[in-house]
Amino acid sequence: MGLSLARNCTDKGFAVVGWDTGEEARSRAARDIAVADSPADLVRRLSPPRALLLMLPAGPAVDGVLAALLPLLAPGDVIADGGNSSHRDSTRRAAELAARGLGYLGLGISGGEAGARHGPSIMAGGDVAAYARLAPMLEVVAARVETTPCVAHLGPGGAGHFVKTLHNGIEYALMQLIAESAYLMRHLGGLAPATMAEVFARWNRGPLESYLIGISAVVLAARDPGSGRPLVELIRDRAGEKGTGRWAAIAALELGVAAPSLAEAVSARALTVLPRPAEAMPLSPLEQPIADQGGLIDDLEAALLAASLCCYIQGFQVLAAAGRAYGWTLPLPEVARIWRGGCIIRARLLEALGAALTKTPDPVALLDDPALEQLVRQGAGAWRRVVLAAAARGLPAPVLSATLAWLDARRQPRLWADLIQAQRDCFGRHGFERVDAPGLHHHDWGDENQA
Ligand code: 6PG
Repeated sequence: MGLSLARNCTDKGFAVVGWDTGEEARSRAARDIAVADSPADLVRRLSPPRALLLMLPAGPAVDGVLAALLPLLAPGDVIADGGNSSHRDSTRRAAELAARGLGYLGLGISGGEAGARHGPSIMAGGDVAAYARLAPMLEVVAARVETTPCVAHLGPGGAGHFVKTLHNGIEYALMQLIAESAYLMRHLGGLAPATMAEVFARWNRGPLESYLIGISAVVLAARDPGSGRPLVELIRDRAGEKGTGRWAAIAALELGVAAPSLAEAVSARALTVLPRPAEAMPLSPLEQPIADQGGLIDDLEAALLAASLCCYIQGFQVLAAAGRAYGWTLPLPEVARIWRGGCIIRARLLEALGAALTKTPDPVALLDDPALEQLVRQGAGAWRRVVLAAAARGLPAPVLSATLAWLDARRQPRLWADLIQAQRDCFGRHGFERVDAPGLHHHDWGDENQA
């Protein structure tokens, strides 16, 4: 990623000097860019006030490199961290650097290797003056939608990295929705990978158009060069993760925001590493109408669109809650705008979502936006049929199901919290509100029922 970004910068006419802790990486980079042989050499070769970009694995590696660089830098220099750092680390580092007169930027950068090389989406947080200095460069390097660069300053300290964390949480949920749709196409509809690839390619020409739907078509069409078999059938069915999706789910839980699609997508990856039976276990029969193949594919398309929209909305709800909790004024329509190009979750849907966010600043009310409400309503019946059919056949569809439950919770005038509150009062005297009188009330549940 670091080298790809450096090459992107040099292509755009910026002078770049690179450094890597590994000797092999340094020699590889030296084919394309100027390379320093130590941090001291790197700092010496940059003219003050310097701008340095760190592209490192999140965590101790960033602190280690900062510790090596800080004694070499002078007030006015700026350090940007373009890795997937935690927002708390970024907030701490911003304060530590400010105390030394150094500028800090936490840059959430999305788009993988190709994005870094040709135009990523950049979610910036940190010092406003440092951003103003680097913005002309970031704007040239970033992806563009029409003529507008996909980069914005979103708030102080760790705000940019927090937005990137939520980007990744949504990324996990969308990837899981797509994987579940393909799984149901295969196991309910009996489609082969090559046919599924055609379906995804067709979907990518319609309202579902997005980077992830596009690459899913490519992935499903790929064949193993040796055997000629669909490559996907030879890939071990066990998901990896580097942790940022988990951070997004934890952030939602910490902030008390219901984002089950994000959390369920993390659990769904964890489910794949558990031991599994050699054969599907027998299922008690349940009569359910299962759509024919054509009906199933149309239903999956509508379900996937509506469910994807709900995942984005959950992500925006977490961002809004974080803004309130951490004192950031996150410009949510700007976030939707810079996610429209360059990043992994870029999608046509973000146009409607961005327009809705400008009219409805509180994302809790986004499902009341007429355009979004219509989108969800149009897909809801199909989505319900898909979840029913999957459950009737014992096929897990965790994010499709959890997201539908999240949506249904918004539809019902009453849920289940009356009983939860009564239980809490019964065993813990926590009190409950009544629908017919103000204040907090207790009931005498009888001594025999106390915990
Ligand atoms: C991006 C991606 C990227 C992320 C990978 C790996 O926006 O370019 O989000 O930053 O690190 O997708 O994520 P997992 O290994 O956790 O799946």
